[in-house]
Amino acid sequence: MPTTLLAIETSCDETGVAILRRTDKQVELLGQAIASQIDIHKETGGVVPDVAAREHVTALPVLLEKVVVEARITNRESHIDAIAVTQGPGLAPALAVGVTTAQALALAWQKPIIPVHHLEGHIYSALLQSAERIPNPIPQIPNKFKIADDQAIFPTLALIVSGGHTQLVWMSRHLAYEIIGSTRDDAAGEAFDKVARLLGLPYPGGPHLSRLAEQGNPAAFAFTRPMLRSNDLDFSFSGLKTEVLYTVRDLPPDSLEQQKADIAASFEQAVIDTLAAKTDAALQRRQPTLLLAAGGVIANKKLRAALQRVAKKRVVPLQIAPLALCGDNAVMIGQAAFFANSAGRLAAWQDLDIRPRWDMA
Ligand code: KG4
Ligand code: ZN
Repeated sequence: MPTTLLAIETSCDETGVAILRRTDKQVELLGQAIASQIDIHKETGGVVPDVAAREHVTALPVLLEKVVVEARITNRESHIDAIAVTQGPGLAPALAVGVTTAQALALAWQKPIIPVHHLEGHIYSALLQSAERIPNPIPQIPNKFKIADDQAIFPTLALIVSGGHTQLVWMSRHLAYEIIGSTRDDAAGEAFDKVARLLGLPYPGGPHLSRLAEQGNPAAFAFTRPMLRSNDLDFSFSGLKTEVLYTVRDLPPDSLEQQKADIAASFEQAVIDTLAAKTDAALQRRQPTLLLAAGGVIANKKLRAALQRVAKKRVVPLQIAPLALCGDNAVMIGQAAFFANSAGRLAAWQDLDIRPRWDMA
């Protein structure tokens, strides 16, 4: 019996809606849409939670309608089996819009809700691989995903690098998470955004900084590779950020664009080296069947290449989330939800609340 899910993501500044169908060994994407709030948050240089929530309120009904039409769902009540939604973690007012919408639909259609952890979504965006070769995967989201047999994927090590999180997660089976490394202060994406701001780049800084870094010399400044000598798998990026702050402050006021590009490239390299070295250390300690990489920062091309080198050295297959699914989206929430559904994680609409702060394990 195929199952069809409607998935909703509103944890931060992207509104995402998707409809996916699962058959035995495959997940098919029937329709999806994302509304980005980048232009709005550019003006404040960061996300203001109440502003994000209002934008979700405006965007959600439009996206829902669009995706239902795209998925050719004629009878919503009989064609959609459950509603998956990001329950947390994230910005409370933003999460509330998605969860309340899911509750309203669940009440109207008499369907269960599948609550999903945002980072679980990121992990499943890499775990489910495209079932078709896509000639140009850059702007495109694959529309069919394979469900591999458990013995081909577990145990899995997942590196999640986003604006809010930097984590190494061990999975011995579906939906079972053990955090074996995480950041003690700033997330890697947050560090990218803050350093980008210091360099006068617009929000969100990560992609702008990596574009500027292409013109710079990554060896120009010897920034710290934080925590590399620590005996654990944890990360820390706030010291590195401060180091960059002092370097930028000491630049002459009319400093050359070239110097900014050099700082961007050297900072990016320090973050990439750290992420790659910690992933390498984790692979050395435990031998997973598969390595996954997902989250907004995993869109970074140099980071993708560095992880490929680590995986090759440790002879472990690497699955990186498709570029179009690295940033926040509802497809990943739906992907994770199929597994949560199989495990019986269903909530009645009355029993659901947002979880803005929520540890995965
Ligand atoms: O996963 P995501 O969309 O949202 C969260 O769950 O946080 O990640 C967003 C983060 C932002 O910090 C953004 O600057 C960063 O991902 N990012 C990048 C790149 N593209 C997005 N960082 C470095 N290089 C990139 N190419
Ligand atoms: Zn995210």
